[in-house]
Amino acid sequence: MPKLVIEGEEFDLPENSPIMETCEQSGVPFACTEGVCGTCVVEVTSGMENLSEFNQAEADFLGECHRERLACQCRILKGLVHLKL
Ligand code: FES
Repeated sequence: MPKLVIEGEEFDLPENSPIMETCEQSGVPFACTEGVCGTCVVEVTSGMENLSEFNQAEADFLGECHRERLACQCRILKGLVHLKL
């Protein structure tokens, strides 16, 4: 089962599930939830390969930055992902 670690706190999530709800419970702010506003940017400190691929909204907002993701747009696929708020 994939594991999301946010600032040291661990959460087990089903494969291929959105991370938004878990991030919200951990204090990540959300606004549009559609990948437009950038409110939900999180830094991925390890395990980026275990998240879904950048979608168009993330590519548009984050550009070439590949250490950050929009938490409202990505899903955890497998393994371990560490996030920093
Ligand atoms: S909440 Fe607006 S981009 Fe994620």
